[in-house]
Amino acid sequence: RIEIVRSAAAAAAAERGAERIVACMRNRTQLTLGLATGATMTPLYARLVAASRAGLISFREVTCFNLDEYVGLAPSSAGSFHRYMHEHLFGHVDIEAGRARLPNGMAEDVAAEAAAYEAQIAASGGIDLMLLGIGANGHIGFNEPGSDFASRTREVELDEATRVANAGGFPDLAHVPRRAITMGIATILQARSILLVATGSEKAAAVAAAIEGPIGPACPASALRLHRNVEIICDEKATAAL
Ligand code: GLP
Repeated sequence: RIEIVRSAAAAAAAERGAERIVACMRNRTQLTLGLATGATMTPLYARLVAASRAGLISFREVTCFNLDEYVGLAPSSAGSFHRYMHEHLFGHVDIEAGRARLPNGMAEDVAAEAAAYEAQIAASGGIDLMLLGIGANGHIGFNEPGSDFASRTREVELDEATRVANAGGFPDLAHVPRRAITMGIATILQARSILLVATGSEKAAAVAAAIEGPIGPACPASALRLHRNVEIICDEKATAAL
């Protein structure tokens, strides 16, 4: 299902995404969510925080697993996804600390951390709703072009274009880590439902490749067409190449 949000307000598509999550959380209080970071998600999380403050939703029985984290960044570092999640969501809602999970980018044994993360997701009963953004190169999580559709949580090397796109959270490009730990494409596809939000003209080519291009590793987001319950919410700019 693809929804194009036609609105002059830049945050309208993200807010529509938030409405979907709020509806899901009001329908079921015990839920496992997969979460994403990035500029696209900031207005979405602001909406979730507002809904939580208004008493419409509660995270008390919700478990969250973030998609990814940079390798070698302490949770409190500028640019870390731990910090992003704390600042934009977890620090403002009633989630238990142990239920707000991200991969540990500081783990000495990253492969063991990745395997443990997969096991934690499975032990939670699996992800009910996986929230995704999309990279301008079609990545989901940090699964860059070329990623195997059978991939699980693992350490990956970031594309230079991704480092440049994500440099905003860091003092300069040299500070952007080169490696990350990310859920794999197979991990993502195991979620019972998936919600992808894409906004802005810089995502137009990736959105078109994901929806209309060949299904294959050249565009990791094209893997979503192999899943039976995916909703894509875009603003008009992100659909310009469809
Ligand atoms: C990062 C994250 C992705 C996210 C993407 C888009 O690289 N690993 O999960 O979807 O960037 O981010 P933005 O919303 O800032 O464009």
